[in-house]
Amino acid sequence: MAQLIIEGQELINDFSKIKQLISNFGIHLSNWPISKSAEAQQLLSKPNLDNTEKERLLTLHEHYFEKLKSKQGYQSRDITVLHPEVPDLDTLLAKFDRCHTHDDDEVRYVIDGSGFFGFVKTGGQQAMMKVEAGEYICVPAHTEHWFELGPSRRIKTIRYFTRTDGWAATYTDTQNKLCNQAFT
Ligand SMILES: [Fe+2]
Repeated sequence: MAQLIIEGQELINDFSKIKQLISNFGIHLSNWPISKSAEAQQLLSKPNLDNTEKERLLTLHEHYFEKLKSKQGYQSRDITVLHPEVPDLDTLLAKFDRCHTHDDDEVRYVIDGSGFFGFVKTGGQQAMMKVEAGEYICVPAHTEHWFELGPSRRIKTIRYFTRTDGWAATYTDTQNKLCNQAFT
């Protein structure tokens, strides 16, 4: 389950409280159950997935995409798989572990593993939230944030997009004040 640290405060474990507090940073958090099918569980247990396996996992969770398409105009989805054997994993992660914004919402559904999002509120206060399998997060466009993998260095996420013309980060000068080690 999600965990939250707001700068200068104690770790929070209560999901309802986290959902409410993180909304003050503009972030939407939901609990989306993962498919309990044997096929999904077998695929999720693998560190890496080929394209056919990725497509199966997307299909097994397609009802969430259908809802986002019809209600919010989302157009596409894909799946990202990170694990310790991914070539140049640290180089890849270094793109996201500095404060940045996007012109589009960053929408992620974690289906395996976990990760840590940092957020910067207008006025400068920072928070870091651990997101785990079964959790959906929407970071609205122009919200200052960063992302770190935790010690397991393993996560699978379904990404949802409202546009299909690319995904870019605009870096800001803000220094991260929190890191995932605060959670251990
Ligand atoms: Fe981002």
